Amino acid sequence: MLLVLGLTLFSLSPSRATEVSYDKGQLLINGEPRILLSGSIHYPRSTVEMWPDLIQKAKEGGLDTIETYVFWNAHEPHRREYNFKGNLDLVRFLKTVQEAGLYAILRIGPYACAEWNYGGFPVWLHNLPGVKFRTDNQVFKDEMQNFTTLIVDMIKKEKLLAPQGGPIILTQIENEYGNIMGPYGEEGQRYIQWCAKMAESQNTGIPWLMCQQENAPQPMINTCNGFYCDWNFKPNNPKSPKMWTENWTGWFIGWGLPFHQRAAEDVAFAVAHFFQSGGVLQNYYMYHGGTNFGRTSGGPYITTSYDYDAPLDEYGLLNQPKWGHLKRLHEVIKSAEKILVQQLVTHKDIESNVVLSTFINNSTGNSICFLSNVNNNKDVIVDLQNNGKYFLPAWSVSILVNCNKEVYNTAKVSTQISLKTKKPSNVELSWVWKAEPLKDTLKGMGTFTATKLLEQKATTIDASDYQWYMTRVDIDASFPKNATLRVNTTGHVLHVYVNKKRIGSDWRSGGGFVFEKPVNLKKGVNLISLLSVTVGLTNYGSFFDLVPSGIVGGPVQLIGSGNVTKDISLNEWSYKIGLNGENKQFYGDNLSRKNKWTSEGLPINRPMTWYKTTFKAPLGRNPVVIDMQGMSKGHAWINGHSLGRFWPTMIAQAPKGYSCSDTCDYRGNYHDHKCFSNCGNPSQRWYHVPRSFLSDEDNTLVLFDEMGGNPTQVSFQTVIVGKTCGNAYEGNTLELSCQDGQTISAIEFASFGDPQGKCGSFKKGSCDATNTLSVLETACVGKESCLINVLEANFGSNSCSLNTPKRLAVQAIC
Ligand code: GAL
Repeated sequence: MLLVLGLTLFSLSPSRATEVSYDKGQLLINGEPRILLSGSIHYPRSTVEMWPDLIQKAKEGGLDTIETYVFWNAHEPHRREYNFKGNLDLVRFLKTVQEAGLYAILRIGPYACAEWNYGGFPVWLHNLPGVKFRTDNQVFKDEMQNFTTLIVDMIKKEKLLAPQGGPIILTQIENEYGNIMGPYGEEGQRYIQWCAKMAESQNTGIPWLMCQQENAPQPMINTCNGFYCDWNFKPNNPKSPKMWTENWTGWFIGWGLPFHQRAAEDVAFAVAHFFQSGGVLQNYYMYHGGTNFGRTSGGPYITTSYDYDAPLDEYGLLNQPKWGHLKRLHEVIKSAEKILVQQLVTHKDIESNVVLSTFINNSTGNSICFLSNVNNNKDVIVDLQNNGKYFLPAWSVSILVNCNKEVYNTAKVSTQISLKTKKPSNVELSWVWKAEPLKDTLKGMGTFTATKLLEQKATTIDASDYQWYMTRVDIDASFPKNATLRVNTTGHVLHVYVNKKRIGSDWRSGGGFVFEKPVNLKKGVNLISLLSVTVGLTNYGSFFDLVPSGIVGGPVQLIGSGNVTKDISLNEWSYKIGLNGENKQFYGDNLSRKNKWTSEGLPINRPMTWYKTTFKAPLGRNPVVIDMQGMSKGHAWINGHSLGRFWPTMIAQAPKGYSCSDTCDYRGNYHDHKCFSNCGNPSQRWYHVPRSFLSDEDNTLVLFDEMGGNPTQVSFQTVIVGKTCGNAYEGNTLELSCQDGQTISAIEFASFGDPQGKCGSFKKGSCDATNTLSVLETACVGKESCLINVLEANFGSNSCSLNTPKRLAVQAIC
């Protein structure tokens, strides 16, 4: 029996209504089985002004669906106080998707994970009496239902569900609960049943998803997430279509860790293999990763950039060749959609790890074949019988029309590669500064007290990264004056002052460390002021919500010679939430009379300092970044918009046992420790300034620096495609373009034959065609883009032997 879910709301907008249903493993849109290609773009990770361009580029890249989570803590920062403004305007985002003619998938969660602060949970939820997260707990369930209902009501009101004529074809409840549910026992089992019932009761008229949930209660569709999703994954109900909600296109970066790159060849391989194994909907996580503005990054220790090595880079530029190589794959898959959806397929083992899957078109008898070679490094020659012998590179999938004409091979990249560079802008910066007011906190004066060391997020309710813990200690003659101060903290960063003097700072990625330093105590009252700093709250794992932050419980001790220990954990502690500069909004444009900014004696390497500069925006349309080299750790704002945390002194190092490398072999299983780059450089040096944050008049940049930096080294730059390269085999069409309206100014290298090397360092091989350079110059120089047919006849005579597979390598300057 067909499972039709789209009827309830059908009558609301009959002309444009879309019915979404599923049966027998097919995803049906208006009764038609479909193959859908989707990509994640999280609306708060870019700006309203960027959305149309990102979505258009996703469409041009061959996607028909945009997926996003909903970010509960952004929308409900205080209980029952909501924010859907600016880049939190979910409805506007969904309408932008709709205007582009694309579908949407809404992962309501409301747990998101997503390397987002606290996984998307508001911290006030943690403070509700009796609450237990993500389990059969009434307090939690009531709040989860309240928010879910709010979102569903909002999208219904705006007619955004497919049966109402809107773009949303699928919604998700919870997120990867199956991965972590074990420790929740029976209560967890009951909770997931409840989630399904609660979701169903929302009457959306479209199917609900639960990702990574092997025991998904029906009619929830369980889907897979990961770097690969192929034969190993089957939904737990034969009616459910096989869908891949997260195909990780790269990975996020941690402070102190290198970049992760996932090759275009491997992402394409994973996608082709998914469709070969009967998949019907695949979503790139991320298609555009974007930026963790403000304090939204999760953690701890996740960078402000959420570039993810996604097909669209952090700034919204095409990440080539990934974007283009996948676009070509999408075209091929779409052209075979009618055949694939029939699911008339035979799979034949050719040899170990080599499978030929033949999909037949029932009515025409035509076929489309997927030939996969899952060997890490063994290329194979496949005997296609009447169709001859076929060379299939290791770790690749070929798509062959009628099993004899190759239309795509995942390992053969014929798309241009863009090498981006940062161009210095002429923006001159002159700085003014002021000190973070510390008078009160260094004197131990907070706003409330407790006779214990409190948990930080419960106290701050995450209103700030910063919390002061201050106490007085009476030292009598018997206690040694030269002592060590020991602070046991759950992290993430600690700055220590004793008797108004800064003693030092410490931090540990992942949080949790012991600070220990000698201190000079005086007889009588001594003041200890500890500034504890969070760098994103944990967002993943069983009971992650209970991972403590701050100096909770301590102990905090003074240790004198002979191990005489004075435990001051249960002293009276005075507390202050946030920095004075934050509370007084130094980052805004409000020039308070007191504490005037001054240019006099601009300090370098002075901890706890605010810097400000006024500047004209760099000209042009290219994305703008700030090069934050020279600064230590802190936060940046432009015209009052937060650019996020910066920490360029966190230098990227590969985890033990791994290393960075210039080359990355795409073959073999990818994992988040493969293909590291950027070791020895700041994990994040450049910070995105969306153009819409800038005005044509004067702009204000404010930096707060915790550990001491040099603002005179800070500069504005623009991101441009510096070079573009092509490397295409005969028979392909190569497109070269410089993006964003720039033109190709020169051809640096061109060779048709057997050129060697890679973009940036091409060399001629043993043979070459005479006219290649001039052909390229005529076709491309002075143009924004050019198309080259890679055919032997076009490049003049060549000295290559008949058997040499010939290709064109080009390197152009933008
Ligand atoms: C998944 C999760 C996503 C994201 C991803 C890693 O487990 O569902 O939200 O966190 O991992 O980027």
